[in-house]
Amino acid sequence: MKVIATVKEMQAWADRIRRRGGRIALTPTMGYLHEGHLSLVREGQARSDYLVLSIFVNPTQFGPEEDLAAYPRAMERDCAMAEESGVDVVFAPTETELYGPDFQTFVSLERLPRHLCGRCRPVHFRGVATVVAKLFNIVKPHVVVFGEKDYQQLLVIRRMVADLNFDIEVVGAPTVREPDGLAKSSRNAYLAPDHRESALTLSRSLNIAQDMAAAGETDPQRIVAATQTLIEKAPHTRIDYVEIRDPHTLERVDVVEGSVLMALAVHVGKSRLIDNRILTPGG
Ligand code: PAF
Repeated sequence: MKVIATVKEMQAWADRIRRRGGRIALTPTMGYLHEGHLSLVREGQARSDYLVLSIFVNPTQFGPEEDLAAYPRAMERDCAMAEESGVDVVFAPTETELYGPDFQTFVSLERLPRHLCGRCRPVHFRGVATVVAKLFNIVKPHVVVFGEKDYQQLLVIRRMVADLNFDIEVVGAPTVREPDGLAKSSRNAYLAPDHRESALTLSRSLNIAQDMAAAGETDPQRIVAATQTLIEKAPHTRIDYVEIRDPHTLERVDVVEGSVLMALAVHVGKSRLIDNRILTPGG
């Protein structure tokens, strides 16, 4: 496995592979790898000849009050896990390599970031779209894999790829969960044991929401209220949002009919956790 830190070397590697007709997959990450990331790696490997895993804690997607400095980092452990998983290249640039002193070009979307996490984290999706566009130009992948846990991020990337005509296939991979239902996340590392118990209310409340929809509840506000009550009862929780939205536009829905997205973001102790589920109503 190669570890590459410079844009020039990464682009030269990608050009060499493309000249030979090789197909490149990219899994972008901010490191502190877990089983969720490795499932994205496997998904990419199944669709390509070479898998590139990028590790970069991207400063432009963190607001001034957010956890950039505290974000967990474990480069050596990450490289060992990547090698074990058959990754061909780890691309791990420094901050100055990606953002020079005169950097001033950003990619921002008009509508999708107005909702959900974009409302609570105003610069977040501009930072994500910008760094991902840069990674596309540096790694030159044919296919990229993103997790469905970050549902809004996946929509943003799909929109950007379509709007800016990147010739790249975007694959969404299912959320990987602990046996008790907690969605895998690097931010779970901040959870103390009693906080972890409270964090379980995210996936439990999504299950309750699905049960209500399957039982014929069509009022999104009643489903949201039931899930909020469950989460608020757990200690150390503070809800950012619990919402039922159109799964394509993220706009509000008045009635739960067809498939809808239920998405939530909750602070549990020091961690801000997100989770989501597509609710499918029953008769
Ligand atoms: O999902 C993440 O880890 C990040 O938002 C990403 C896509 C690697 C961009 O920094």
